[in-house]
Amino acid sequence: MADRSLTQTEVSLNPASSDMVEITIDGVDLSVPKGENIIESARKAGIDIPYFCYHPRLSKGDAANCRMCLVDTASKMPDGTVRKMPKPQTACTLPAAPGLIVYTNTEQVFKDRRGVLEFLLINHPLDCPVCDRGGECPLQNNTIFYGASTSRYTEEKRHYPKAYPLSQHVVFDSERCIQCARCTRFSEDISGDAQLALLKRGGDAHIGTFAHTEYNSKFSGNVIELCPVGALTSRSYRFKARPWDLQTQNSICSRCSNGCNIKLDYRMDSVVRVNARLNEDVNEEWTCDKGKFGHDYVSSPERLTRPMLRNGNSFEPITWGQAYQLLVAQLKKAGGHTGVIGGGRCTNEDNYMLQKLVRGHLKSSHLDSRALPVPASGDPLAARMGFRSMGSTIADIENKKSIFVFGCDLEDEQPIIFLRVRKAWRFKGAKVVFANSHVATDSVSTADFADPVLKYTAGAELAVLQGLLVAILAHNPDVASSLPVSMASVVATWTLESAALASGIDAALFADAAVALCAGAATIIAGKAVQLSPCYAQLVDVMGVILTLLGSPRDLNIPVMECNSLGAMDMGVLPDFGPGTIRAAQPGFDTAGMLQGALHGDIAALWLVATDLAAHWPDRDLVTRALEACPFVVVSELTMTETARMAHLVLPAASMAEKDGCYTNCEGRVQRLHRAFAPLGECKPDWLVFSEVAALLGAEGGPVSARDITCMIASEVPTYAGMLPAALGHAGLVRPENSTTNA
Ligand code: SF4
Ligand code: SF4
Ligand code: FES
Repeated sequence: MADRSLTQTEVSLNPASSDMVEITIDGVDLSVPKGENIIESARKAGIDIPYFCYHPRLSKGDAANCRMCLVDTASKMPDGTVRKMPKPQTACTLPAAPGLIVYTNTEQVFKDRRGVLEFLLINHPLDCPVCDRGGECPLQNNTIFYGASTSRYTEEKRHYPKAYPLSQHVVFDSERCIQCARCTRFSEDISGDAQLALLKRGGDAHIGTFAHTEYNSKFSGNVIELCPVGALTSRSYRFKARPWDLQTQNSICSRCSNGCNIKLDYRMDSVVRVNARLNEDVNEEWTCDKGKFGHDYVSSPERLTRPMLRNGNSFEPITWGQAYQLLVAQLKKAGGHTGVIGGGRCTNEDNYMLQKLVRGHLKSSHLDSRALPVPASGDPLAARMGFRSMGSTIADIENKKSIFVFGCDLEDEQPIIFLRVRKAWRFKGAKVVFANSHVATDSVSTADFADPVLKYTAGAELAVLQGLLVAILAHNPDVASSLPVSMASVVATWTLESAALASGIDAALFADAAVALCAGAATIIAGKAVQLSPCYAQLVDVMGVILTLLGSPRDLNIPVMECNSLGAMDMGVLPDFGPGTIRAAQPGFDTAGMLQGALHGDIAALWLVATDLAAHWPDRDLVTRALEACPFVVVSELTMTETARMAHLVLPAASMAEKDGCYTNCEGRVQRLHRAFAPLGECKPDWLVFSEVAALLGAEGGPVSARDITCMIASEVPTYAGMLPAALGHAGLVRPENSTTNA
């Protein structure tokens, strides 16, 4: 039987109680949690109840509107008799109760299903042959299994514009809509933009945005997957393929550090669409639009396919043999004056081989994966908190009682963490405080649900924290004893008035924020504005103190940015730490130091790996001058980026779809990505290039696959001990120690 389930999960948004009740479904006696939805109870017993509008993560508010899940029911009375309910019930809203008897296979139930499908198809255009949902459509499947072969309706169907472009990513075909309200509930419950609504009523009812405004949600791709018919489809996937034409590979999103689990649907050597893959601990079953629609770079016509050598102002293709000859000669010449920048977008396996090459064979300690400037004193989070990136796990954030989102456009910087924060607020009653120098108005923002919102003068991050700390002490003087002695005298000089003046925030709002943050288990999520602040180290200190006062000393989260920034640091692509956060005997230059070093003759060869510094480093002029001054610059990249155009040699790298390996996400979860198809043209995975260069420099017995390196890491890197491919499985593992304290 085909898989007709509409969802990947059995986890309910509104979990049932832990009390168990006895019920019977089709003669099978079951003990299930009281209040559990009968669709879920039946599924556990292997009994199929068809449905369209039901979804365990969406509220039941507007549900029970497709009627596909009708079942007959009865109650077992105390005297042992059975009393049948006169009308069928919707299983998606029927809670398990003691003595409930459910029949899913009576003559009447089959008749009800036929009737419901006949109704749903009254206006449905039946354009399956040209519908993108064809082949994976629950309406098709349920009609084949439960529908009648003919209809009594001969009237003209409703007509609406076909393929209406709802947004940059989503096409809407209203004629196909069965008004299940999944998309509207997603829009309201999960993404929070509430842009989709059921407009008008009766025969005119249809889905749309208010006043036909553009549907500009940052999570719009999810409604394509949720829609049980072909009403909401993807503009980029439209007419590209049929499901049976496609192959699927499990992967990890490469567009930010959340590490969302995704499926790459591909044909030949081209990714044609990305769908979410279930991982309860990371993305549940959602993606943001960057992840869903942002992997077209893999199949871009701009991809480099051969090594390229500079010739004057242009580049000409060369062979790998020629490229290696030049590269090895230059690296030998530079030796300990070689610098390597990058790795945040490479796998752990790439990075592990990279640091082995640089430290082991070139005898250099100048390597850094961080593409953002760090304070001269080093990573303040690691120094103060003993860990990098996050002290909480992503899943844990939804269980917090108070959440402070600070200096961060969370919906853009960490979209999936944004959804967790919103879930904590909407479904679990968490208090959310938001402080930022600006408030996004284009779509959703933490400001939409935070209370209070502290909008501060740009650059006044320290004053915001000072005001907050003073307000917390005023609200709860008992916690003053937790103030570190070193801070007590400093804090005594801060006042609410001076903080209000410096930050532009009304003093009363600080007091409101303090009340909200003292509501219980607290966490702070800080973003780019904090990381780029000249007072970054001081901000980390004060946030650490605030969390100590709130009783959650480790819950500081400043998520790293790139998909494998944390993995690169774990693998030792840092000037001061080797793999497994072991402090390096001989610290080298960090990224800023290497740029200065290239300018002043201390760096003779610079290798930039998957990092477009010229486009992203705050001081672009420094990058340009450094690359121009450096005697030899090699870039490993997918496309001819701004930085690559400044190189002497450019090496074509394999994309995330073309290699195996692991990424470590911002919470320290190590997850596997799998090769979907062979590298384009002559592209090579970075680990292979590093390994081949090491062999040319005299290394023996290098790895023959990424899997070999995963095993090497599991046995050689203490914090990754035992993280063998089989142990990582489909969901990945949070490495046992998100810590730098063993340094
Ligand atoms: Fe349901 Fe799709 Fe219609 Fe939305 S567009 S109500 S998800 S059928
Ligand atoms: Fe990808 Fe990040 Fe979006 Fe997840 S939140 S889909 S990892 S870009
Ligand atoms: Fe129960 Fe739609 S699934 S009414």
